[in-house]
Amino acid sequence: MLSKVILLALLVAIASAALQSRARQNFNCDDLLNRQIAIEFEASHMYLSASNFFAHDRVALHGFAKIFRADWKEELEHVEKLVNYGIMRGSNVITPAVPKQDDAQWESKTVCDIIHDTLNFEKKVNDHLHTLHKCADANYDPQFQDFIESEFLKGQFDGNKELADLLTRLERATQVVHQNGTTTSTCDGLGLHLIDKELQ
Ligand SMILES: *[C@@H]1O[C@H](CO)[C@@H](O)[C@H](O)[C@H]1NC(C)=O
Ligand SMILES: [Fe+2]
Repeated sequence: MLSKVILLALLVAIASAALQSRARQNFNCDDLLNRQIAIEFEASHMYLSASNFFAHDRVALHGFAKIFRADWKEELEHVEKLVNYGIMRGSNVITPAVPKQDDAQWESKTVCDIIHDTLNFEKKVNDHLHTLHKCADANYDPQFQDFIESEFLKGQFDGNKELADLLTRLERATQVVHQNGTTTSTCDGLGLHLIDKELQ
């Protein structure tokens, strides 16, 4: 009797856990795809938080607010592309929990630190895309490989180059020469104002 109850509970659990796709063929990267969707959601949340910080009247860097706002929307587009892809391949797409952002996290950083951290974060996103690509490769799924390459990997490097350029230009524009002849960057002041103007 007890084993029958357990069996019934198990069958109900399986039935509610996943509808079986009829379209599905040779797709074996569900967990990694769902993880990528969660990462893109997290990135969009982070960029929204950064954009709101830059737009605040005590910061008023509207050029930076604008680029992070565009990033926010771009990450949501990445989410949508991945969701649509999962549905097309008959995967059971998971709606992820998106971690809450600490909106005060930006206040203690210079703009250069924020751009530097953003670049490192994008590299981590890129690493996970490579993991996804490896899964496609290991399961002989050329269609999935092509999707990752054409829709994600190319743009990822373009974006990183732009961030790296921006950091160099920020450092140059806010450079100070010390009496001992060495130079450092404040990442603030008129130079920051000028770069921000360019981004508007
Ligand atoms: C040069 O001066 C700056 C500012 O005072 C200081 O931070 C830096 O450590 C100095 N560098 C050398 C090599 O003395
Ligand atoms: Fe993305």
